[in-house]
Formats: sequence, C-alpha cells, structure tokens
Amino acid sequence: MTTHLLLLSLHLIGAAVWTGGHLVLALRVLPKALRAKDASLVVDFERAFEPVGLPALLVQVVTGLVLALQYSDAPAQWVELAPGFSRAIGVKLILLFITIGLALHARLRLIPRLTDERLVPLAWHIGLVTLTSVAFVIVGTTFRVGGL
Ligand code: HEM
Repeated sequence: MTTHLLLLSLHLIGAAVWTGGHLVLALRVLPKALRAKDASLVVDFERAFEPVGLPALLVQVVTGLVLALQYSDAPAQWVELAPGFSRAIGVKLILLFITIGLALHARLRLIPRLTDERLVPLAWHIGLVTLTSVAFVIVGTTFRVGGL
C-alpha cells in the first residue's frame, strides 16, 4: 500500500466518523431533543461522540495537509484560492476555520449556558457544523476532477 493510499484511507475513515456522526446528531438526536425539550439527549450524544470525533478531526487535519502538499506545494496559492487543486485546498482550510470557530463558540458560550429552554441556539450550531462537514466531503471529491 502506497503512502498516498494509506493517507487517503485514514482521511476517508476520519470523514466517515466526523460527517457521519454529525449527520446522526442533526437528523436523529436533535429533532428528538427539540420535540421533547430535553437538552440532555444532545449532551449525552456529544459526550459519547467527542472522544472519537475530535481525534477523527485531528486525523483529517494532519492527513489533509499532507495530502494537500502532494497536490500543490505552494501554500501561498491556497490562500489566493488559485484555480484548481489550490482553490480546493483553500476552501478546505476555510471550512476548517469555520468548524474550529463554531466548536469554540459552542464550548465557551452555548454549552455552559445550555438549558432545555435554550436548545434552539445549539440547534442552529449543530446545523451549521453538519453542513460544513458535508461541504468538506463535496470539496474533497473535487480533487478527482482537478479541484475547483
Ligand atoms: C472534517 C474534515 C474533513 C472531511 C470530512 C474531509 C473529507 C474528504 C473526502 C470525503 C475526500 C474525498 C476522497 C476521495 O475522493 O476518495 C477528501 C479528499 C481530500 N481532502 Fe479532505 N476532508 C476534511 C478535511 C480536510 C482538510 C482540513 C484538508 C487540508 C487542507 C483536506 C484535504 C483533502 C485533500 C488534499 C483531498 C484529496 C485526497 C485525494 O483524493 O488524494 N481535507 N476529503
């Protein structure tokens, strides 16, 4: 197995955990919690998911950056969103900063103040993180066709 295939396999497993976990949260756990006005359903899921989800995100960042350098070794072009692989990498980095920003906002502001009555702000947060995780997958597939 080549290094590239090993990195890509790890990247796909990490994607399955991160995006799959958020889709289950957004489509199954959150609607039930909103109907029951029971924030503990979301908190319990997050507690079970985080020990696997956060290492998966770290795997995405490490394998993603190493894979990215195999497609374009000019980070300046990533930042400029130069057409092709560089733009796809740049968009991945934008999605990563959005994910980190949302995670910090949840950890520092939403979760500490979470009550059964204050589920709606967390619901919006979960929706945005889930959409961002799906966008990561869609942008990832563009590498097969030359990037963006
Ligand atoms: C949670 C975060 C992420 C998810 C869910 C994700 C998901 C994916 C998926 C599904 C693919 C498609 C693989 C294929 O075509 O078989 C992919 C490819 C790729 N991703 Fe990510 N990704 C994430 C983060 C990142 C980050 C942070 C970077 C780095 C800037 C990155 C760089 C790449 C590259 C370079 C490829 C092309 C790999 C190849 O086809 O050889 N990804 N990603």
